[in-house]
Amino acid sequence: MTDLDTFITGLPKAELHLHIEGSLEPELMFALAQRNGVALAYDSVEAVRAAYAFSNLQDFLDIYYAGAAVLQTAADFHDLAMAYFDRAAADGVVHAELMFDPQTHTARGIPFSEVIEGLLSAMAEAEARHGLTSCLIMSFLRHLSEADAFATLAEAGPWLHRITAVGLDSSELGHPPEKFAGVFAAARAAGLKLVAHAGEEGPPAYVTGALDTLQVDRIDHGNRALEDTALVERLAASGITLTVCPLSNLKLCVVDTLADHPIDRMLALGLKATINSDDPAYFGGYVADNYRAVAAARGLSRADLARLARNSLTGSFLPPEAIAAHCARLDAFVLAE
Ligand code: HPA
Ligand code: ZN
Repeated sequence: MTDLDTFITGLPKAELHLHIEGSLEPELMFALAQRNGVALAYDSVEAVRAAYAFSNLQDFLDIYYAGAAVLQTAADFHDLAMAYFDRAAADGVVHAELMFDPQTHTARGIPFSEVIEGLLSAMAEAEARHGLTSCLIMSFLRHLSEADAFATLAEAGPWLHRITAVGLDSSELGHPPEKFAGVFAAARAAGLKLVAHAGEEGPPAYVTGALDTLQVDRIDHGNRALEDTALVERLAASGITLTVCPLSNLKLCVVDTLADHPIDRMLALGLKATINSDDPAYFGGYVADNYRAVAAARGLSRADLARLARNSLTGSFLPPEAIAAHCARLDAFVLAE
């Protein structure tokens, strides 16, 4: 039998909750700052890493939006995404659903076309280089207005056929899902899938709002749903996927220690939980690091880990034939262990 590390990286898996801007490693941040003549608030890679001590979501978001200022051209977005894809492929990721935040860039005068063309060219290269497929989730910043989200949806018009879903991220508290009911309805009418961050810091009612008002296909995070028994039963019965991010939860103080992480409780309650990295450059690890960390902290079995990987495949927005093919490979891998 292989060791647990090899087992984890060998599991064919999808990554469903990854902000591409959150994969900006300090080394690349410095290289892009130099390339584009952007001044950084830090004088070394070590100083950047030392600043990554967060006590809540907003602490992180302030640093994350500042870091994104080095991203200016399609080449920058391409290089950012390729660096992520190379690491994801090494972690056994066979399919990745990338969130990107256009408003973080268009608000700085970066054209939407630069952002998306850079990402799309990297996605094609990742498929050619690694056989890793991917798709895009265009996320609206919930601290901005719904009108701003509508303007972003309009701006995405020429590329709508290249975008799989819309999402909702940024500061959760005080910005309930209902604020975006109209733009999510418009995205749904345009044939897009829908996801939303809910229950990371926000109350269970935000998860209910994402389900009832936004009619999402997946919940990003969902941790605080556990506070509401009826909601847990509803989530379990509907089989909706939760994209859980253990190292993110630790760094943003959603849990005090990984030993308190509810990932195995979620599985035991019948929730369709998955493991994801969220913002790996900021939270201390890529997707396999997240599997390893909770496996160690919560004593997950190989069967639990395979269940989590299977949930990621079946919870993806891939067509059913592709999901079936990946699941068959997963089953063969587990059987051979
Ligand atoms: N939560 C909300 N918004 C975000 C996150 C997150 O974890 N990462 C990037 N934007
Ligand atoms: Zn997130």
